[in-house]
Amino acid sequence: MRRRNFLFLSGGGLAAAVGLAACGGSDGSSGGGGDGNSVEVFTWWAQGSEKAGLDALVEVFNEQHPDIEFVNGAVAGGAGSAAKDMLQSRLQAGDPPDTFQAHAGAELNDYIDAAQIVDVSDLYDELGLREAFPESLVERLTADGAIYSVPSNIHRSNVVWGSTAVLTEAGIDPSTPPASMDEFLAQLETLAAAGVTPLSVGAAWTQVNLLEAILMADLGAAAYNGLFDGSTAWDSAEVTTALEHFETMIGHTNTDRDGLDWPDATQQLIDGTAAYNVMGDWAVAAFDEAGLAPQDDYVYFELPGADKIFGFLADSFTLPEGAPNPDGTRAWLDTISSPDGQLAFNLAKGSIPARTDVDTAEFPEYQQSALTSFAEDEICSSIAHGAATSVGWLNAISDATSQFTAGATDLAAYQQALTDIAAENAA
Ligand code: GAL
Repeated sequence: MRRRNFLFLSGGGLAAAVGLAACGGSDGSSGGGGDGNSVEVFTWWAQGSEKAGLDALVEVFNEQHPDIEFVNGAVAGGAGSAAKDMLQSRLQAGDPPDTFQAHAGAELNDYIDAAQIVDVSDLYDELGLREAFPESLVERLTADGAIYSVPSNIHRSNVVWGSTAVLTEAGIDPSTPPASMDEFLAQLETLAAAGVTPLSVGAAWTQVNLLEAILMADLGAAAYNGLFDGSTAWDSAEVTTALEHFETMIGHTNTDRDGLDWPDATQQLIDGTAAYNVMGDWAVAAFDEAGLAPQDDYVYFELPGADKIFGFLADSFTLPEGAPNPDGTRAWLDTISSPDGQLAFNLAKGSIPARTDVDTAEFPEYQQSALTSFAEDEICSSIAHGAATSVGWLNAISDATSQFTAGATDLAAYQQALTDIAAENAA
């Protein structure tokens, strides 16, 4: 098959990217993406509903770029818990995939600082992406005037999912979300007394996901956002309160949590052994896959707090330095940013389009609520999903959180650790 020349290659600003093509071997030795007719796409969407989302995107890619073979470089493990380390080894060994999944925001800075990804702002100009994405998102993607990735979606991290049946059985009205944090904590007591798991979580990153949802609710948007620019102290009393809430909630979670990835934790709600699960809205794709319907089978709300908050993250794709087939990468970036790509992918993934011009009328109930929240509520960047913190900062928070939830440290030591980590990592 011959490689087609893309519109991107006609542009004058593409010399750097075209030059990169010379770095790729023609023997396919670079992770399967090096034969010039293929694009190796590195993600952690390896299984279940996440793979179904990726498959929907690949279908559009195959229609739009039939002469380029999609090579699936997925590495299992929610939130990139295994993929990110493997990616780092490959990047350091000079063996990058043609493109990899990363989160818009602070996480990208790691790759930019290490000169592991290439500026793709010429592609933004060619495809009109500056106009297609919300200004606030383009800002989060811009570093020193350059843009290093293209978003495929916007996910919400701070969602509480509830089992309609389990809540009803325990005498809790599922149609009315708790009005305060105290009421939510009282519900967890009631559920524990009823003999079900009140709140399901999984391994470290899902615990950090829970922690950030509590911090958003308890601190409110301004103070939460201040945790990352030094204007809110991690050793403040309001953070202590949030950590106390976290400790209480962890006390009401499944004891097998450390061995579970997010689909297992969410499955407990699907199976009716757990009442609540705090998880990003990729969970809605798992509920769909299991045939569950909103309201009848599950409900959703954010943890009650002072502000209405959308916990923000966006999956975005990069052009790595030395990518074997940058033309293929650009074709992938074209598809994921196209209206058709964003429509198909987000319908399947539980997220909302990053583009503002996609017709979302046919999006289901949950995503309609996310669209409204993203438009109207305060936006707070996710910790667990690389929007607020660098990879190093997140890893340190995850380690401290694991030690705390395993009982190796007490609350004061945990808060001190989070404070020290912030001092080392804050900009
Ligand atoms: C996030 C990612 C989502 C979803 C989730 C669970 O980091 O942005 O798309 O895949 O992890 O794996």
